[in-house]
Amino acid sequence: MTIRMMGRLAAGIAMIAMTAGAAKAAEQVEVLHWWTSGGEAAALNVLKENLQKEGVSWKDMPVAGGAGSAAMTALRARVTAGDPPTAVQLLGFDLRDWSEMGVAANLDDLAKKEGWDKVIPAALQAFSKYDGHWVAAPVNIHSTNWLWLNKAALDKAGGKAPTNMDELFALLDKFKAQGITALAHGGVPWQDGTLWEAVVLSVGGPDFYKKAVLDADPAALSSDTMKKVFDDMSKLRTYFDPNFSGREWNLSTALVIEGKAGAQEMGDWSKGEWLRAKKEPGKDFVCIRFPGTQGSVLFNADQFMMFDVGEKQRDAQLKMASAVENPAFQIAFNTVKGSVPARTDISDEKFDDCAKKGMKDLAEASSKGTLMGSLAHGYAQPAAVKEAMLDVITQHLNGQLTTEAALKRLPEAVAAAK
Ligand code: GAL
Repeated sequence: MTIRMMGRLAAGIAMIAMTAGAAKAAEQVEVLHWWTSGGEAAALNVLKENLQKEGVSWKDMPVAGGAGSAAMTALRARVTAGDPPTAVQLLGFDLRDWSEMGVAANLDDLAKKEGWDKVIPAALQAFSKYDGHWVAAPVNIHSTNWLWLNKAALDKAGGKAPTNMDELFALLDKFKAQGITALAHGGVPWQDGTLWEAVVLSVGGPDFYKKAVLDADPAALSSDTMKKVFDDMSKLRTYFDPNFSGREWNLSTALVIEGKAGAQEMGDWSKGEWLRAKKEPGKDFVCIRFPGTQGSVLFNADQFMMFDVGEKQRDAQLKMASAVENPAFQIAFNTVKGSVPARTDISDEKFDDCAKKGMKDLAEASSKGTLMGSLAHGYAQPAAVKEAMLDVITQHLNGQLTTEAALKRLPEAVAAAK
């Protein structure tokens, strides 16, 4: 071969390499989500990096705001414009609402090839599928009835974790006496609802939760048990700090991490913030089921719904869905996020004690029939009913409605939203 020929060959090889590179770079997913806190972003990075390794680039569309209400507004605008993102973080009934509009992609072939039917819990599949077809890839299972305690503050208060509402109030009094904020809470509707649903479960037990929240039964919504729930909510408010209104959940978590507050009621995504601050469960913080709710789990699972974005992005979209269900990814992501895997075939070996408890509680609740959807995170009621209930809960917590008025308004608001 002459030098000239070799030169031409080299140029040809370079050209092929460049074309391959360009083809790879063209594979992209655009992802709409609300994972903007430190712990959430760290978890999402695991997915971004895994996809990058497969030649799929990531176009990020973050819309801040826990529980995703701002994200839903952004999604509406994109879908109305006929230009949906490739994948969207969605919860529960919202998955149904969007699927109903006929904008979902079909993941059946991939799901079949990878055997999703056998490993994704039925409680999730009920939302990952629409009309019998897979439309979403579930990422995790979170649960909302947790209480996160600063270990040093708890030790100073005697070290005993509360097991019912009375013991919780007694502990909060002790935190107050220590001169710290007793309960770190952010006053926004979804956070008010997250606290409220835990109190409903604690005060009324699982059967009452089913009646009042899952069935939205008018008698349960205005019952004496519900009166106690609202009274307890008013009492809990006396343990918040004066700056609670409008505060994002992760800033409240930070107060507990720094020892400026004693406790926070929040879903296990708050563990993501503790881990990110290099804090250890059992040493720096304690995770317990919200007092009085042991044995039941209020769940919410993040799912990436795939939108119909045409053939051009189809391959990248399927790669993303497959990457999400990959067992190694399920471990790498959920150990950072604070959630537990969305698959039943993952060992708890690599998980910390809080997640081990989460996985055990989940299995137990699922076998006992006490695994129930979270209202505040879209797994109990469709958006309209959820928003109507959250409105009443927030107004009551802010003192704009008396307990008597809230008991009357709650069933009325639900009926009007249905
Ligand atoms: C939830 C979501 C979690 C968490 C939280 C706060 O609705 O399921 O993954 O991120 O919002 O942003």
